[in-house]
Amino acid sequence: MNKLEAKRRIETLTRELQGHDHRYYLLDQPAISDAAYDLLFRELKALEAVYPSLRLPDSPTLRVSGGVREGFKKAPHVAPMGSLDSLMEPDEVIEFDARVRKALDVEAVAYRVEPKFDGLSIELVYEDGVFVRGSTRGDGEIGEDVTDNLRTIRAIPLRLGGGASGAKRAATTGTVSVRGEAIMLLAEFEALNARLIAAGDEPFANPRNAAAGAIRQLDASITASRKLDFYAYELKGDADDGLKVQSEAAQILTAWGFHLDDSARTIDSIEGAIGYHAELETRRERLPFEIDGIVIKVERRDWQRGLGVRSRSPRWACAFKFQPRVEVTQVLDIIVQVGRTGKLTPVAALRPVNVGGVTVSRATLHNQDELDRKDVRIGDTVRVRRAGDVIPEVVEVMIDERPRGSRKFELPPQCPVCGAPVEREGAYHLCTNGLSCPAQLEGHLQHFVSRGAMDIAGLGDKTVQQLLETKRIRDIADLYALTPIDLAGLEGFAEKSIDNLMQAIEASRTRKLDRFVYALGIEHVGDTVARLLVDHYGALDPIAAASEEELQGIKGIGPEVAASVRHFFSNARNRKVLERLAKAGVKPVAEKRERGPQIFAGETLVFTGSLEAMSRPEAQRKAEARGARISGTISKKVTLVVAGPGAGSKLAEAEKFGIAVIDEAAFLKRLGAS
Ligand code: IVH
Repeated sequence: MNKLEAKRRIETLTRELQGHDHRYYLLDQPAISDAAYDLLFRELKALEAVYPSLRLPDSPTLRVSGGVREGFKKAPHVAPMGSLDSLMEPDEVIEFDARVRKALDVEAVAYRVEPKFDGLSIELVYEDGVFVRGSTRGDGEIGEDVTDNLRTIRAIPLRLGGGASGAKRAATTGTVSVRGEAIMLLAEFEALNARLIAAGDEPFANPRNAAAGAIRQLDASITASRKLDFYAYELKGDADDGLKVQSEAAQILTAWGFHLDDSARTIDSIEGAIGYHAELETRRERLPFEIDGIVIKVERRDWQRGLGVRSRSPRWACAFKFQPRVEVTQVLDIIVQVGRTGKLTPVAALRPVNVGGVTVSRATLHNQDELDRKDVRIGDTVRVRRAGDVIPEVVEVMIDERPRGSRKFELPPQCPVCGAPVEREGAYHLCTNGLSCPAQLEGHLQHFVSRGAMDIAGLGDKTVQQLLETKRIRDIADLYALTPIDLAGLEGFAEKSIDNLMQAIEASRTRKLDRFVYALGIEHVGDTVARLLVDHYGALDPIAAASEEELQGIKGIGPEVAASVRHFFSNARNRKVLERLAKAGVKPVAEKRERGPQIFAGETLVFTGSLEAMSRPEAQRKAEARGARISGTISKKVTLVVAGPGAGSKLAEAEKFGIAVIDEAAFLKRLGAS
């Protein structure tokens, strides 16, 4: 085959495969078998491998790709991507309509109502009809360029209207921005979690996190293996100009080959939106994906423009959310977990139940007080609730269904892991064995060596476990007695890695004192409290000697924290470990705070989700050094939220309060600029 013949064949194959994709994914009417499709696909791939320059920009082979990329590029959006005000009650929706009508000075407003998809919002950019770039929302102005990953999603047309006969192609010139939500179907989500659990990995909390995780992969073949879907809901850019109404955008998007939910419709007054909300809430369980409410949009585009945007959310649209879902199931058992701080947590083992598409088999019962208040017993029938990605919880016991002879559940007087006596401290039951309890020790060690703490690179969870199992270490002080010979017998350790780990351990002897105090893993002592303590006392000994009252005198430290600090340092075993650490040459340095240009002066920041470039404590320290106050919860005082992948309810709350949200890239940019 010569180059010209190859060119013709590549063009034919590309069009043919696009046609098959369209029939398969959009019409659900495949014309050929999967095997026949694969043959064509492989032929095209082989030809493109020989003549890479002949590959068409919308080739179906671009959907799957391998290889690891280094980080994501930044992608400015064609138009800013805002967020929506979240409303919970019909009254609020009626007020929304009243505001809209008042601002427009009209009697009646027609709205378009659609499901609110619970996924990751994405902008797709098409140049002259060809998909060229796709990005996450990011800070609303600039997102992460995830083009290659998006190409692997079959529901994203690589060419607008490609394969669809008679589809509208006229409007596909120029730059077009399609907004929508990348989502993971519930069936795929459950299957993925089953695979993760089988492999001993953490499952995803919900389909939204799973979708976000799949898209924010540096290796596009992982995205491809996660089988995402994409639903479009908005059109911007050059195609936007001639649009009169919102439903026209939907029609065009459908013609171009996008998935849209077919329940969406236009209604001529706000009452219709309330009806649609109720209707969708009942349909919700039967949908193959998660939705968390409806979106109400003013139908006329000129009115949308007239109403405009307030800070980040448009005045012409809102989200009307669903109430959290509740299901009924049975408590099979109540188990007691021991955390790294020695806290005993009762957990209800439930008969697995599907709560809004996610299988729930455990629910935390928090502590003895909560247990007493709800009086949850083994064998009880209970209502469980899952709100957003919040850990499932037992709402109430259905007393009428209680089996005879059941007994109140009491936390045991002995630690279920090590057998040491359990003591009550306020609301909590604590194992008194301190760092000698294996359950506490493992979690403790993991925390001690982690990035924001002593930062001993090369000591992963598996290695910590091995070191404990083989009794090479019995507490954190033993880490500093490790020799290369001890490490040589460990799985995956060779000369180089042993060397690196020895150096990392060595370097950690002189970590800053606040990181050391944080690393100790004292209950309620996060990095912020650790710094307060160090700033106040300047050394470890006075912190260890301080009384509860004295501790409470420090601004920012309350009674609970003070009690917990006192409790830790009065434990004889903990004191011994500290002595041994000192003897082993662990000499944390009390250092003055780093201070940078006060670019965050007057701002209160909340960090949520995970970060990539640095640990969260480190990011918070850097923000504080630049004048920020850090808060752990969303409130009216918060001015900025830095959200990473996996961000959950805090992000939703932030949107509700209308607080600005930026991603890690935007945060780094601000740091970098200062
Ligand atoms: S329209 C100015 N329509 O909800 C934003 N958004 O809280 C206009 N979402 O970031 C967005 N389904 O990711 C719109 N049918 C829908 C939606 C939808 C889900 C998401 C979107 C947005 C968030 C707003």
